[in-house]
Amino acid sequence: MPTPTIVLGIESSCDETAAAVLVDGMLRSNVVAGQDVHARWGGVVPELASRAHQEHIVPVVEAALRDAGVERKDLSAVAFTQGPGLIGALLVGTCFARSMAQALGVPLLGVDHMQAHVLAHFIRDGVDRPVPEFPFLNLTVSGGHTLLVLVKSHLDMEVLGSTVDDAAGEAFDKGAKVLGLPYPGGPLIDRHAAGGDPGRYKLPMPQMPGSDFSFSGTKTAFNNLVQRSMQGDPDFIHRELPHLCASLQQSIVDILLRKVQKTARQAGVRHIAMSGGVSANSALRAQFNALALREGWQAHVPPPAYCTDNGAMVAMAGHYLLLTGRTVDMDAVPHTR
Ligand code: KG4
Ligand code: ZN
Repeated sequence: MPTPTIVLGIESSCDETAAAVLVDGMLRSNVVAGQDVHARWGGVVPELASRAHQEHIVPVVEAALRDAGVERKDLSAVAFTQGPGLIGALLVGTCFARSMAQALGVPLLGVDHMQAHVLAHFIRDGVDRPVPEFPFLNLTVSGGHTLLVLVKSHLDMEVLGSTVDDAAGEAFDKGAKVLGLPYPGGPLIDRHAAGGDPGRYKLPMPQMPGSDFSFSGTKTAFNNLVQRSMQGDPDFIHRELPHLCASLQQSIVDILLRKVQKTARQAGVRHIAMSGGVSANSALRAQFNALALREGWQAHVPPPAYCTDNGAMVAMAGHYLLLTGRTVDMDAVPHTR
């Protein structure tokens, strides 16, 4: 029997320490440790993130190997998120991966975090899901990025649009903060919006040219609306919470999908896809699928566990890098941008 190719993927770019194991391209384990320390500060504190990665990385990697039934000595390569991300956070994963690859004498694979988010569509875990056909348009929406990417092959991608100010996830998180919700507020907005009227509060639609996004006007208008209303009515947030959440959410979804529609039409693609933490949003998922249906496109959104930061997508990117011999030197350093 040929020896299997076993890739360990390590993610530490922001506030999730994650590791996963792929055996011949099949996902065998996927372990994520979140960081609750940031909730009380209303956002990710870089110094605390680095410390938490230091604490989590050994047990997370051990758990990923154990769950996969794989021993360290069996690894064929070690993949790690090289950037973009927080420098102190990236350094933890980078140093760990470098040491591991060097000690085992196996190739080291430096993964681009945004490419990994796109490659989440190709994770194989035994569940049958159709994969997007090239070329496809990917909306990558996370706490740090909002990108429209034309994906020509697994490792050939072109950025067609990006945000000029906040990322979509930040727009959710900052809006949530205005409402007194803890960080990360995106999932809470999603939950509270469930019973709300998305048309109750109209927020301005930015007039951005081309395929770029802007969320700062929405953020300011939402903040002003809440502050103004609270002055005459201290109970305003409490009473209107579902409608405020639904209105903010709808405004962000409209901004995103308007550009997806325009860019996909221009690019002439037949498949559209979405990944990154914000693509876990239920309204965005439903309306993304509805848009594809109207336009005759195929829509692809990975399960939520592969949308937020995870090791599986990093291992998947490592798999394609290894296949094409794109390794990095043992003294590889993180790229923050
Ligand atoms: O991809 P990700 O896990 O980390 C980054 O690379 O940033 O994305 C995290 C972001 C956060 O801003 C979080 O609030 C947002 O994704 N998010 C959501 C939902 N789940 C996560 N935003 C809206 N609705 C959700 N259900
Ligand atoms: Zn991410």
